[in-house]
Amino acid sequence: MKKKYLVLLALLPGMLMAQQSVIIPQPVSLQFNSGNFTIDNNSALKFNKTDKALQEAASFFRSAINNISGIDLPYNTVKNKSVELKLINNAELGDEGYLLRITPASIEISANKKAGIIYGMQSLFQTLPAIRTNAALSIPCMEVKDYPRFKWRGMHLDVSRHFFGPELIKEYINLLSSYKMNTFHWHLIDDQGWRIEIKKYPQLTKVGAWRVDQNDKIWSSRPQAKEGEPATYGGYYTQEQIKDIIKYAAERNVTIVPEIEMPGHVASAIASYPELSCTQQPQLPLTGGNYTNMSSNYCAGNDSVFLFLQNVLTEVIDLFPSKYIHIGGDEVEKHPWKKCAKCQARIKTEGLKNEDELQSYFIKRIEKFIVSKNRKMIGWDEILEGGLAPEATVMSWRGEAGGIQAAKMNHDVVMTPGNPLYFDHYQAGPEGEPVDIGGMNTLRKVYDYDPIPKELNEAQAKYILGAQANLWCEYITTAEQVEYMVLPRMLALAEVVWTPKQNKDWQSFNERLQTQFRSFEQRGLHYSPGNFTVNIKPVSENGKLSVALSTEALNGEIYYTTDGTLPTKESAKYSLPVPIETSAVIKAITVVNGKIMGLKPAEQSFAMHKAIGKNVNYTNAVSRYYLADGPNSLTDGVRGTYAVGKYWHGFSEKDMIATIDLGEGKNIKSISLGCLQNYRDWIFMPSAVQFEISTDGKTFTALQTVNNTISVEDRNATIKDFTATFAEQKARFVRVTAKNTKCPKGHPGEGKPAWIFADEIIVN
Ligand code: ACM
Ligand code: ZN
Repeated sequence: MKKKYLVLLALLPGMLMAQQSVIIPQPVSLQFNSGNFTIDNNSALKFNKTDKALQEAASFFRSAINNISGIDLPYNTVKNKSVELKLINNAELGDEGYLLRITPASIEISANKKAGIIYGMQSLFQTLPAIRTNAALSIPCMEVKDYPRFKWRGMHLDVSRHFFGPELIKEYINLLSSYKMNTFHWHLIDDQGWRIEIKKYPQLTKVGAWRVDQNDKIWSSRPQAKEGEPATYGGYYTQEQIKDIIKYAAERNVTIVPEIEMPGHVASAIASYPELSCTQQPQLPLTGGNYTNMSSNYCAGNDSVFLFLQNVLTEVIDLFPSKYIHIGGDEVEKHPWKKCAKCQARIKTEGLKNEDELQSYFIKRIEKFIVSKNRKMIGWDEILEGGLAPEATVMSWRGEAGGIQAAKMNHDVVMTPGNPLYFDHYQAGPEGEPVDIGGMNTLRKVYDYDPIPKELNEAQAKYILGAQANLWCEYITTAEQVEYMVLPRMLALAEVVWTPKQNKDWQSFNERLQTQFRSFEQRGLHYSPGNFTVNIKPVSENGKLSVALSTEALNGEIYYTTDGTLPTKESAKYSLPVPIETSAVIKAITVVNGKIMGLKPAEQSFAMHKAIGKNVNYTNAVSRYYLADGPNSLTDGVRGTYAVGKYWHGFSEKDMIATIDLGEGKNIKSISLGCLQNYRDWIFMPSAVQFEISTDGKTFTALQTVNNTISVEDRNATIKDFTATFAEQKARFVRVTAKNTKCPKGHPGEGKPAWIFADEIIVN
């Protein structure tokens, strides 16, 4: 007996070493030691009372501990055990790093600045119960050294499209701070609501913050308000509320960067003060995504617009201590400027070439003002067009291209590419998730993101300040949905921007996340439990087609069928890519601990045909945004699903003209083109599809033209094959032309080019 006991003791230190960290983001270094520190009535909080930063940090700690345990830690009294807060001088830690040393007798949190002390506390808090227990708190002994990889660790929130009160804003900031995110980008202004009180211009919130309530309708199909309808939906933050929120954020080391959008996306300001637009016509606040005949831009030729903006910015700068002021700058629809005499006069007197340069003039003039107030200007990547303002920082959202360009010009950059950092996109759906704007950014995609693009050398990479996720709220109407979209993806981003690259580990993150999930549940926070949809990826190699299956789920196993039947735990278990030799429907499920996860099996049909694996040549380029699985997506046997971001090749403005070389003459008797219609995303069926064949690739014979039969008014997403069948003929080349259309009357994009989405050219 005794011997056995000794063996166990000898194992103990080793076992403790293997203890799993629960901290997210993963620290630079963390080592567990044996024993625990217990916060109880014999513990005191020790710090230099004359230091204001430490006083504030102590008060933050004391109140957090009290909220869980009910214990009121006395300050600087002699007790058996102490929690000590110390400012030190350690170059390695920088402005936000910390050391956390926990022994059975003491906890020591030391840092160069208060920010680091707060982060040391946040790491410690993650080891505590998530809710009130009214009991002493036991914390495992450990030694942590930690500091961030990037200095901009941001989260954005759009409060214009839907309004969220100060309570949600504080909860959001608190969540940011818990995971060491330090920047809250507050999108206070957009077309559908002006949300910040400006004393000099009261109409902005009296008119611009309120609209006709159409929350029962999908954003993109809300009609414009009519004169006389009551404007009951909305809200704004008073300057007093904003001051209180700024203070709350500062206590948690969160800087709030206000976005004062300009020169576009400001229909709300124009509804309040029509003289700010080019037409100066009165208009009602927008109710949703309906822009037809509405002014959305400030007039760039009118000096009183600049005076207005300077007055607004003065109040904003007086309120917000942030070094950065965000001025928007995205998606300016420039045609109103083309028709405006004042704007055209400005172009002339300033010697500008076009409206792009007019936008650049606008932004540079605003930058000058911001710099005169000792602040820095940041804007969306469109501020590169027409010439970048001299000191501007660029927020790269249309992919990374803008960020790369700016860094190469020695300008600071924040990376926030739509893929994968737009958190308004689905993370596990669309099945089972609330309706949102589209796209698919899963937890794994976020986790795998690296803010430093390969295109930059080491010197240029220094201009990447960090990364940020954006939460646009066209489709997000409640606090619960805000939580759901952010949790847990923000935690993956936190590890992207904080943790040294070499310490990142998806498996470990996924394990640590399980503790956070329990904490979310205890705190009543809504979150996505994960993406359980099996990822089905076609692999076309050496003339053969196979499919690789993968799952993001921790300890997830995959079971699948190839005959279209519903997979169960008794179906084939996946280990290696599955060869596809005949037309098949793959259905696959994720199983975790014996339980089938998710609402629906992932499903993909593969259509075998004579063009599989053949090269497709396009006369008009496929959009770089919709490349599906690569250049041969139309000959990979993969049929598209309703997920817009996947499988479909997108074409805008021009016809899709695809030519396939079958390699040798083949007998064929039918050709099909698969297309998608999705009204909401401006994707419409081609008006007609023409099918041609050729033996030499030069002279083509027209076989058939198939007209569209799906109504442009049909708002349900629809997939349709355009098919030509004919008497068998020999051909080596196949050419398919899909005719582009325009968005129909009454559609938000009325008269503008529609998208054509095609998934496959099937030749038999
Ligand atoms: C943006 O998403 N329009 C910046
Ligand atoms: Zn104008």
